[in-house]
Amino acid sequence: MDRLKSSASLMIVSDLDHTMVDHHDPENLSILRFNALWEAKYRHDSLLVFSTGRSPTLYKQLRKEKPMLTPDITIMSVGTEITYGNAMVPDEGWVDFLNHKWDNKIVTEETSKIPELTLQSETEQRPHKASFYVKKEKAQEIMKSLSETLVKRGLDVKIIYSGGMDLDILPQGAGKGQALAYLHKKLKAEGKLPQNTLACGDSGNDAELFTIPDVHGVMVKNAQEELLQWHTENAKNNPKIIHADERCAAGIIQAIGHFNLGPNTSPRDVPDLLDAKLDQFDPAYEVVKFYLFLERWRRAEVSESYLNHLKAVCSPAGVYVNPFGIEQVFDDVIGKLKDCYGDRKGKQYRVWVDQVFPTKIDSNTWLVKFKKLEQTGEEQQGCYTTAILSSKDVEPSQGLKWVHVHQTWIDGSASDDKNWFL
Ligand code: GLC
Ligand code: MG
Repeated sequence: MDRLKSSASLMIVSDLDHTMVDHHDPENLSILRFNALWEAKYRHDSLLVFSTGRSPTLYKQLRKEKPMLTPDITIMSVGTEITYGNAMVPDEGWVDFLNHKWDNKIVTEETSKIPELTLQSETEQRPHKASFYVKKEKAQEIMKSLSETLVKRGLDVKIIYSGGMDLDILPQGAGKGQALAYLHKKLKAEGKLPQNTLACGDSGNDAELFTIPDVHGVMVKNAQEELLQWHTENAKNNPKIIHADERCAAGIIQAIGHFNLGPNTSPRDVPDLLDAKLDQFDPAYEVVKFYLFLERWRRAEVSESYLNHLKAVCSPAGVYVNPFGIEQVFDDVIGKLKDCYGDRKGKQYRVWVDQVFPTKIDSNTWLVKFKKLEQTGEEQQGCYTTAILSSKDVEPSQGLKWVHVHQTWIDGSASDDKNWFL
């Protein structure tokens, strides 16, 4: 959270399954549209928070499967685990707070007496979360009797039903909404309360996110019955909550526009990126645009004449150090690029960038650090990338010149793919 020196302009707090991530979209188009928008326009001054029911184990698994950005804050296990940054440093204060009137042993004892409850996998049982499956018809009745029993045993718990199948038992002070309130309180104490917060969800455990003061909310089009019902009963006339008519991440983009929270055109929705003339230099946008071009080039979705533009934005003496440690001049790289026009045509090939951080190092030079990732089918690969971009002798409408690019494999990504470049 220390990354930003002042209030975030926008804090997005999004659920993952069926909200940020659409499991019915094998092309992952809506999340990729969101990613491009976030990195081009929001990353530098905003906060991305993922709030998922998944445990750390299943969260990490999802990240390998889907083109997900790296959040600034990760809230897992239905608001019972809060971690910060890439290293996912846990918030110990939150853990202490959750111990209040909570005892896992008693929860196990009482739930084992209810045959309709089926225990979820071991990975999903966490220090402050016990999770089961239960049929829809039985859910309400069991939730009522179980909460009475646990009160009698001296606990103060919250029982949440999600996705028409999952039943979670948490300490009363836990949950996605309480975790968000806690973060707001922390940020406020540092004088950094975000200017706007947008909560995004699709199922029962997301309902509390929409009850936090001063939060805009979007229930994505494909929201579950239990969330829509909660909304009808509790928040029907609240203009700060919308039910999007777009699915998943596309619904999030829709909400950004609806509530006027900032730019809402994803670079992915701009068919000819050369038409998007800028009136000032914007290194993050340039990086996003360049890698979109690369994807479209290899999928043969842009015309070959685009190469001339590329030549114009690459400094001829520029150097590219690839992740194998081999140095090439840009002229040679462009030659190689020419050969791979359309080499991923008809394949599920996607390119995206994550954590794009530009720093101005002198009056006309930017150093931009980011992760560049690609996915072909199920396989993900990525490189830490450092690029130097220059505005010397160019107009903003022409775009920045690429002067230097250096890449290193992200752990576990090293490959012998000789066609990897940039
Ligand atoms: C995720 C978790 C599961 C939980 C559900 C609803 O699927 O893995 O344990 O019950 O979210 O919160
Ligand atoms: Mg969900």
